[in-house]
Amino acid sequence: MLVEEPCYLAALQTFALAGARVIGVPYVDDELDLDALEQLAAEHRPRFFYSVPTFQNPTGRTHDVAARSGIADIARRRGFRIVEDEPYRELRYSGDPLPSLAEYAPEHVISLGSFSKVIAPGLRIGWVRATPDIRPSITIAKQAADLHTSTVDQAAAAHYLASGRSDSALARIREAYAARRDAMLDALPDALPPGSAWNRPDGGMFVWARLPEGFDAAESLSGALSNDVAYVPGLSFYSGTPDPRTLRLSFTTYAPARITAGLSRLGASWGTGR
Ligand SMILES: Cc1ncc(COP(=O)(O)O)c(C=O)c1O
Repeated sequence: MLVEEPCYLAALQTFALAGARVIGVPYVDDELDLDALEQLAAEHRPRFFYSVPTFQNPTGRTHDVAARSGIADIARRRGFRIVEDEPYRELRYSGDPLPSLAEYAPEHVISLGSFSKVIAPGLRIGWVRATPDIRPSITIAKQAADLHTSTVDQAAAAHYLASGRSDSALARIREAYAARRDAMLDALPDALPPGSAWNRPDGGMFVWARLPEGFDAAESLSGALSNDVAYVPGLSFYSGTPDPRTLRLSFTTYAPARITAGLSRLGASWGTGR
């Protein structure tokens, strides 16, 4: 299994549970290293490449059109399937929507979607789009995992979707999250130590930051927590050697004023827990 490095933690845990051998494909700055993908695919002959192409968890990164077509091209030539996990696709606050990986290589892509980020995570309802040849295997694997998805929850989701309220709810969510993202981006220059770097995602829930030389995000967390603010140290998101200076900041839970206040407390915490 090839994965992006860093990668969504629960996916890494799922692959480990399934006994998969997992190999990370690095980024160069904010772009996936396509040469490395090609080379790792040639060397390890993976069955799958797992990707969160849009507003990735944990980094908020998005593969642009050139990267998408490059990934699809490598999958076709090297004969592996792509699992494209798209829970954040609808949470776009700026920029134009991009084609899914499935549009570039329909025979090679399994697409995953979820209502968790757009209706409610407690529904536990998502969807899979796959080629007919592997649908029976997916059905059997899902039956082995949970027998079936709650019909009551499916009926609730169907009722909600049929009500026509989802578009306006999504518009409200996007507007609120965009303001929260902007509040975070505005406050970050004073909240992170000088010399830190971070990205400016067009959507999703996360900003990915890297502290300057000499800092360790896991060690610094206790100082942040004692100031009543939290982030996720980046190291749990790596399949290989972690970068201890990285951290994930989530901006969706609180209103802008609380984000600003929280980041001001974060700014006061560096050095206190180390
Ligand atoms: C990339 C990614 N995939 C899947 C999920 C979980 O989705 P679900 O609630 O549908 O299991 C998350 C949520 O954190 C995620 O970030």
